Amino acid sequence: MIYDIKDIRLAKKGEKRIEWAAQDMKVLSKIRQRFSKEKPLKGINIAACLHVTTETANLMVTLKAGGANIALCASNPLSTQDDVAASLVHDFKISTFAIKGEDSRSYYKHIASCLSIKSRITMDDGADLVSTLHKEPLKFNIDYCIGGTEETTTGVIRLRAMEKEQRLRYPIIAVNDAQTKFMFDNRYGTGQSTIDGIIRSTNRLIAGSVFVICGYGWCGKGVAMRANGMGAKVIIAEVNPLRALEATMDGFRVMPLAEAAKIGDIFLTTTGDINVINKNAFLLMKNGAILANSGHFNVEIDIDSLKKISKKQRIIRDFVEEYTLKNNKRIYLLGDGRLINLAAAEGHPAQVMDMSFANQALCAEFIVKNAQQLENKVYSVPKDIDEKIAKLKLESMGIKIDSLTKQQQEYLASWQQGT
Ligand code: ADE
Repeated sequence: MIYDIKDIRLAKKGEKRIEWAAQDMKVLSKIRQRFSKEKPLKGINIAACLHVTTETANLMVTLKAGGANIALCASNPLSTQDDVAASLVHDFKISTFAIKGEDSRSYYKHIASCLSIKSRITMDDGADLVSTLHKEPLKFNIDYCIGGTEETTTGVIRLRAMEKEQRLRYPIIAVNDAQTKFMFDNRYGTGQSTIDGIIRSTNRLIAGSVFVICGYGWCGKGVAMRANGMGAKVIIAEVNPLRALEATMDGFRVMPLAEAAKIGDIFLTTTGDINVINKNAFLLMKNGAILANSGHFNVEIDIDSLKKISKKQRIIRDFVEEYTLKNNKRIYLLGDGRLINLAAAEGHPAQVMDMSFANQALCAEFIVKNAQQLENKVYSVPKDIDEKIAKLKLESMGIKIDSLTKQQQEYLASWQQGT
C-alpha cells in the first residue's frame, strides 16, 4: 500500500466522492446488498487492474462485501484519482497500488504488487495485468487462477489474439461485449466524458468548431453525437466502409484524414490502432489544432513524429502541451495522448459505470460457480446476466415497460406467421 497516514485528508475527500458516485450506482448497490448476505466470493483473491475512480471504488467495495480479498492497481498511469486510492486504503482497507502520473516503471511495479496476492480471479481493463501474469506465470502463480474478466475493447482484442495463439492459460469473460456495457459505457460514457476532458483541459468552445473524429465505433459514435449536439461541425475519418456509410447516414461528413487535417480545429482518435494521426496529418493541420485521444493506449497519435518535426515544446495549461513545429505552426496535444476522459476529467459518469461494473461483479460470481466447465477461451457475458442488468437498471430509473402476451410469444416462435 502506498498511501500512508499523511493522506487522511485526501482519503476523506475520496470517501465522500465515492459515496456521491454510489448514489448513481443503484444496480451495483443491489448486487452489493445480496453479496453481503450470500458471500459468493468468500475467500477469493481478486487482482484488479482498473482505472482507480470513484466508480471503481464502488465495485471494489461490492466485491469485498461478497467476501473477496482484493488488490487493485491502475490500468493507466494518468487515470488514478489519488483521493479515491487513499480512501480505498484508509477507509475500506483495500490494498491499492496506484498514483496519478506514475511512470511506466511504477505502473508495472504496481501491477506486479497487485499480482502478488496469488489471484484466483483477474479483473482487467486493457489486458496489461493478464499479459504481465502470462509473461511470468510461475512468479505470479498463474495455475491458481480460475478465470478473469476484461472491461474494454482493446483488452478483448489482445485476449482474443492470445486465445488464437493458444497462449491463454485460463478463461476470461469479455465484459466489454455485454450489451449493457458497450451500448451505454462506450457510447454515452465516452461521448460525454471525452467532451468533458477536452473542455476541462482547454476551456474551448465546441460550438462552431470543426471536430474531426477518427473511428466510428461505439466510442466514436458517442462523441460524434455529443459534439454535434453542442454545435460542432463533425467530420468522421473511417477505414471501415460500413461504419463510414453509417456515419454518412447519421448526418456527418466523412472524408480521408488527409483532407480533414486541413480544416479541423479539434482532432480525436477512438480507433484502438497505432499512428492514426501521423506526421503527414500534422504537417497539413492549421495553426492551433488540438489533438486528443480517447482510445485505451497512447499510441493513436504519433507523438514521436510530432516531437521530431517540432522545434519547441512547453506545457501551456494543465494537460495541454504546445508543440511549435519547424514550420512555425502550433499544435496542442492534450493529456500526453492518453485517454483524455480519464486524464483530464473523471471518466464515465457513475450511471453508466453502474451497468459495466454490475457485469464485472456478476461475472466474478459466475466464474466462481462455473470455472470448472470453462475452457481457456474468451467468453461472452451470459445473456441472462446482461438481461438482468438491463431490467434492474430500468427498475432503478423507475421505468416500466410492457411484456409480450402468451399469444404474442407463440406467434413470434411460430413459422406460420401472417394471416
Ligand atoms: N473507464 C471509463 N470511465 C471509467 C470510470 N469512471 N471508472 C472506471 N473505469 C472507467
